[in-house]
Amino acid sequence: MTNVSSLIDQKTGAQSRLIYSDQAIYEQELERIFGRCWLFLAHESQVPNPGDFFRTYMGEDEVVVVRQDDRSIRVFLNTCTHRGNRLTRADRGNARAFSCNYHGWAFGLDGSLVTVPLESEVYFNEIDKNQFRLVPVERVDSYHGLIFGCFDKNAPSLGEYLGDMRWYLDVALDAMPGGTELLGATQKVIIHTNWKLSVENVCGDGYHLGWSHGGALKATQSGDFSGFTVGNSSVDLEGGMSVAGLNGNSVLATLDGVSGYAFYPNPTLALKYLSENRAKAVERLGKLRGEKLWGSQLNLTVFPSLQFLPGLNWFRVYHPKGPGKIEMWTWAIAEKAMPDELKQQILDNELLTFGPAGLFDNDDGDNLSACTVQSRGWRTRQMPVYTNMALGRSGKRVGLPGDIASGVVSEHNQRYFYRRWQEHMQAKDWSEVPQYNLNPLEASDEQRTVQTA
Ligand code: FES
Ligand code: FE
Repeated sequence: MTNVSSLIDQKTGAQSRLIYSDQAIYEQELERIFGRCWLFLAHESQVPNPGDFFRTYMGEDEVVVVRQDDRSIRVFLNTCTHRGNRLTRADRGNARAFSCNYHGWAFGLDGSLVTVPLESEVYFNEIDKNQFRLVPVERVDSYHGLIFGCFDKNAPSLGEYLGDMRWYLDVALDAMPGGTELLGATQKVIIHTNWKLSVENVCGDGYHLGWSHGGALKATQSGDFSGFTVGNSSVDLEGGMSVAGLNGNSVLATLDGVSGYAFYPNPTLALKYLSENRAKAVERLGKLRGEKLWGSQLNLTVFPSLQFLPGLNWFRVYHPKGPGKIEMWTWAIAEKAMPDELKQQILDNELLTFGPAGLFDNDDGDNLSACTVQSRGWRTRQMPVYTNMALGRSGKRVGLPGDIASGVVSEHNQRYFYRRWQEHMQAKDWSEVPQYNLNPLEASDEQRTVQTA
């Protein structure tokens, strides 16, 4: 195991580039991060009926999520227990059983081995079918429509894992009756970058927005949002917050209740929906979340690799494929209560901005690939990179969960993300992973404030 304690210096924000290129570190991540943490698998809306299945990954392990006859969810390694073939090649579908292409073994929805061709002739009826059941993922649970799995039986419950991040997640997932649904097909893109660079870009890097995406912002920003500034020199530092310290989970938020839709060519429909439903959101979420967070630009990150942006309405998971490659899966996400016309606009806008040919994603993909390549050269990789912006300037007094920094332009969230990465990579098991409970929700809604130092 690589000792990564010297590879990230929390005091200066200096990081070794090895964490983006070293094969041994990557193997350690598969075991200690993807083999240990709760990972997003599918949205309930993707497997609504018994027999529905969805094929995805946990780290590099391929798994299949299956809705059972009793409507519960089970998840299995997508590999035949005979000679190891991939069991289902379909991305998703509905099945009564899964039969293997190679020799024809067939498995029930519950993972049991049901049929073995020529069982009496070649196995002489001596095969113990119980021994050859599909291998289940140890822990499966869901939160407001999001299905998660975890390989580690000693992991905390999903509820504990999400912790106070739930208070923020509920703004996106539970503001309206009926919750959320994913729209359209899975958009799969391969990017030659390290998975952590993609996560940090969204979890905390408000800095690149005005520069990298200057052209995309000009092309998409609606005139209805003249108050939402473009360009690093004019980003409103007091108008938002960066929230971290939630055990690797984090939030960026603009706090104005509308600017999630700032990048819609025509946000009229979305703004109408927000104003018509504001009172309902306040009723369900309380005044502060209902007025300030619902409808704002929110970047939500669930450690290690799930991110979504209500408003811009993309929802994404990163699957690592080696230290320098990811498969990025994106969907549009909408509240079920939204009118169909708005849902269509959400899907169209997601494709315009963060789809495979999206204006913003092409900017990011290029930069993140280049950052990864520049971590490989023998001399270059001896040069550290930094996340030291606004170091030591967290909020002094807040009534919200987490450690809060003022504004959305800082490297506050990135530092916490890498700190969590380092804690997991150093820990032998969950008993060595520290759990934080920063600023738990004790204050009443009226007492809370988003004022930061
Ligand atoms: Fe699946 Fe042989 S590998 S039946
Ligand atoms: Fe970006």
